[in-house]
Amino acid sequence: MSSHDTAVSDDALAVLFTDAHTARSFRDEPAPIEQVRRAYDNARWAPTALNSQPMRLDLLASPEARQRLAPLMAGMNQEPVLGAPLVLIVSADLALDQSMRELGASEQMLERLAGSLEMRQGLARDSALIQLGYLVLALRAEGLDVGVMTGADLPGIDAEFHADRPWQTIAVVCVGHGDADAFHPRAGRHDFDAVSQVL
Ligand SMILES: Cc1cc2nc3c(=O)[nH]c(=O)nc-3n(C[C@H](O)[C@H](O)[C@H](O)COP(=O)(O)O)c2cc1C
Repeated sequence: MSSHDTAVSDDALAVLFTDAHTARSFRDEPAPIEQVRRAYDNARWAPTALNSQPMRLDLLASPEARQRLAPLMAGMNQEPVLGAPLVLIVSADLALDQSMRELGASEQMLERLAGSLEMRQGLARDSALIQLGYLVLALRAEGLDVGVMTGADLPGIDAEFHADRPWQTIAVVCVGHGDADAFHPRAGRHDFDAVSQVL
């Protein structure tokens, strides 16, 4: 138990938060898909609007798949994608109403969603971003280093990887074990008082 009486240990808080750091280059060591599966099994408990769970994943496990992605990344983001043992394309599924039916969503809500692309887009994107945040934490809990990147031609990624499905890319995540050059100096963070008001 933490000295501050938190529900998880100080060691766990360090892995998830205080020591966790964006990785940009990786050791030649695999990031097993089994670990991503376990991370997903934890991350899926994230809250999502109407329990919509719109996040979808492409796992680029082969060098060939990562080579297809690299030209669609901004210049400085190409090396991480080519050097990581595993890269995830994280998307929001705009056909989320179909998968929500499987989980027992009300027909009335599904009809409203089916009739409004704008509503589906907003819902899918908001909730997929929350799921992405949880996934990052869950991958870190597995002992993996991650680097989230949005510096990319996101519509181009959809054209290359999602031509057959309505998945809208929201981010690319490099996964692996950071090497000696992986981490930039820690950037500052705002204090609580600077970002909050108590009313
Ligand atoms: C939504 C999002 C987009 C990001 N895009 C990029 C990116 O395109 N390239 C990059 O090198 N880092 C990217 N980052 C990483 C951030 O720059 C990094 O998390 C931030 O500077 C804090 O550094 P730290 O995670 O090491 O503490 C992104 C992070 C997030 C959450």
